[in-house]
Amino acid sequence: MADTEGMTAVDTPLIDVNDPRFYDDPWDAYRWMRDHSRVHWDAKNELWVVSRHEDVSTVSRNSARYSAAAGVRPAVAAPMSIISMDDPEHTQQRRIVSKGFTPKKVADLADHIREVSRDIVAEIASRGEVDFVPEFAIHVPLIVIAEMMGLDPEVRQRLYAWSDAMMDGDGHTDPDAPQLHAAAEAFGEYTAMCQQLIDERRAVPKDDLISTLTATFDAGELLKLDPSAATVQIEQEQLSLDDYELLMFLVLLIVAGNETTRNALSGGLIAFSRFPEERDKLVADPSLMETAVDEIVRYVSPVLSFCRTATETHELHGATIEEGQKVLMLYQSANRDERVFDDPDTFRVDRNPNPHLGFGIGTHYCMGANLAKAEIRVVFEELFARLPDIRVPDGVTPARGDSALVLAINSLPAIFTPA
Ligand code: HEM
Repeated sequence: MADTEGMTAVDTPLIDVNDPRFYDDPWDAYRWMRDHSRVHWDAKNELWVVSRHEDVSTVSRNSARYSAAAGVRPAVAAPMSIISMDDPEHTQQRRIVSKGFTPKKVADLADHIREVSRDIVAEIASRGEVDFVPEFAIHVPLIVIAEMMGLDPEVRQRLYAWSDAMMDGDGHTDPDAPQLHAAAEAFGEYTAMCQQLIDERRAVPKDDLISTLTATFDAGELLKLDPSAATVQIEQEQLSLDDYELLMFLVLLIVAGNETTRNALSGGLIAFSRFPEERDKLVADPSLMETAVDEIVRYVSPVLSFCRTATETHELHGATIEEGQKVLMLYQSANRDERVFDDPDTFRVDRNPNPHLGFGIGTHYCMGANLAKAEIRVVFEELFARLPDIRVPDGVTPARGDSALVLAINSLPAIFTPA
């Protein structure tokens, strides 16, 4: 173990980075790793863990030494479009699929995000209390992606169930785990629906992401990857393997864009409740929203971790990382690293600079970061405009689901003066 600075085994906290419960209260363990075991060997899961800002950054930026191609999750090696590709293919593919995410497209969406947010706020405004997650936070990210893709409104509820089921499959190694079956079923149903949409848009294009991507794909710009190399096979007969890359990107999109932003919103409300003076500051000076959004992403860190696989045996701060071993990056810990952030456990809406790693860093930097930031900004603007005192009551501990990938706040009681 690296850099243990005289700690004995007795002092070593129990760290199991695949256990969702570890993330219920990981702060002391994070600090311990940063201080005493900066390249930490998690013996149970047989992988290395980096927790300092500097080290997460090193691993994420050096994609030649730390490859994403074997998957970015510790347990399941499911390939998922660009997130599990290395350069140069990754950049080539990303350039094409990101055509749906240009700053202009996001700016065009902002007005719509505002309308959607306003409607949802209006629905709860007279009630005085809500469960913020199912009644509020899940809606905006879901509606935005559904509309971007060009899905019918009635598909949304199913989209929510599919995306959650696919996320819940994370971390399960037992092939009989019910979560894995549910994830596979959701994957099958969702990709079948996407295939049908691709076929429809291929025949009659519309002004939506699926039409854009299908056209690009058919023009031969998107690389054809070999689906037989995948560890997760598409088994549905009605799916065209020719459209494999397109389908996998649509899976990535729904998984990456949904629970992430939802947890940023729920975590953001928790932050504003714990630091009411920061909310007052923001309400008094709305121009602080720009820095507040990044601070929400830093303080909350909705994505807990992603991993890479070492392509060569090498030393990192005294640890020998062997070729083929996995290295897990703990974003929450990096974002609370006192070596980089003053007073890291304090939520400050005017924190600037704020070099957080909540969206990752380097070649895989979140493709939806602009969209996610627009959603967070608009939602809190609309929420505080109508319900300025909305808060999580004191003493409430948010209920977390079984995830070692996202924050997974499933339920969050909130109260406010009815408007
Ligand atoms: C607050 C919300 C979000 C957070 C915290 C977040 C976080 C992240 C992180 C940490 C990565 C890096 C993965 C890695 O290095 O392996 C990533 C990648 C990605 N994210 Fe996000 N994300 C958010 C919202 C979104 C949204 C709304 C979308 C799309 C609609 C999206 C799409 C993607 C995609 C496609 C990638 C892969 C990029 C690549 O591999 O080049 N994300 N995200």
